[in-house]
Amino acid sequence: MSDLLKVENLTVRFEVKRGGGWNKKSYLYAVDDVSFTVKKGETLAIVGESGSGKTTAALAVARLVKAYSGKVALAGEDILQKEAEALRQTRQKVQFIFQDPYSSLNPRKRAEAIVREPLDSLSRKSEDEKTKIVDDLFEAVGLRPEQQRLFPHQFSGGQRQRIGIARALATQPELIICDEPVSALDVAVQAQILNLLRKLQKDFGLTYLFISHDLGVVQHMSDSIAVMYMGKVVEHADRLSLFQTPRHPYTQALLSAVPTVDRAKRAQQKRILIPGDAPDPVNLPAGCRFANRCPAAQAICQTVEPELKSDTNGHRTACHLV
Ligand SMILES: Nc1ncnc2c1ncn2[C@@H]1O[C@H](COP(=O)(O)OP(=O)(O)O)[C@@H](O)[C@H]1O
Ligand code: SF4
Ligand SMILES: [Mg+2]
Repeated sequence: MSDLLKVENLTVRFEVKRGGGWNKKSYLYAVDDVSFTVKKGETLAIVGESGSGKTTAALAVARLVKAYSGKVALAGEDILQKEAEALRQTRQKVQFIFQDPYSSLNPRKRAEAIVREPLDSLSRKSEDEKTKIVDDLFEAVGLRPEQQRLFPHQFSGGQRQRIGIARALATQPELIICDEPVSALDVAVQAQILNLLRKLQKDFGLTYLFISHDLGVVQHMSDSIAVMYMGKVVEHADRLSLFQTPRHPYTQALLSAVPTVDRAKRAQQKRILIPGDAPDPVNLPAGCRFANRCPAAQAICQTVEPELKSDTNGHRTACHLV
């Protein structure tokens, strides 16, 4: 299948205030030279601890935060260069589902108006067309027609996330970015929402960029997985390859925390704890960013930053030992 999203050398930096002289500018490279692609109809998961740059990368892809450098192409069109009307059209094509269904919905609006809002601001459909679309979306996400009249506080967390999903689907986007869509929900409800997202993907041929801090959540939800650490992609492979032969010590540690259903495997599985804290993102070390916490670190890791290199099957890893 063809690439729907192609991100090349994307870098996003923030100016941060740090003690010192008046004019001293420091930068935090939240996303540092990151490249990945997502094929049409597939799901790329981006996984990593809090602060690794997942949300910032996604916001840059949706033009909700400014990229410092790099390229983002959606269906072959460079979207970082777009302005005005072309940008409005791009906004229709990329939609977000946010982590927190409690704070991402306007509490003073009825569910119907929330789902309709992107159609009002981004599309040029008639009122009748919009009403029909909203009716269909409520059905698609498993909400009843009469629930359209209710306000967000009258829904449970899972139902609110269904409203968020319906809203994201309203403009028939080509790419849906799910940023930790189930992290704020109970485990039982998580499974329902993940199942719904999968069903919608199948029914409508959706393409997802799916962000999570939890590899367990994405194991049934992704075609390929990119693992991020401190602004960098440290490993990127298709799902099976990543789960069966994780190569980066950071990925191995993340994976060791995922409960497995396979009993024989569970018996052998040893949890690898990641010691210590991540380095200061404004003063990154010279070598590998994971070196101060890596159980396998060597002398070279302190001085030379490992490059992301691909094997013949396209499994990419950034580690001197691989
Ligand atoms: N607007 C901002 N200004 C300054 N720093 C930011 C801003 N947004 C995010 N960051 C920093 O960028 C890094 C990556 O953050 P984020 O993309 O939210 O990570 P994640 O989603 O993986 O938790 C963090 O160090 C965070 O503090
Ligand atoms: S490059 Fe070195 S420090 Fe970094 S992950 Fe590999 S072994 Fe660990
Ligand atoms: Mg985030």
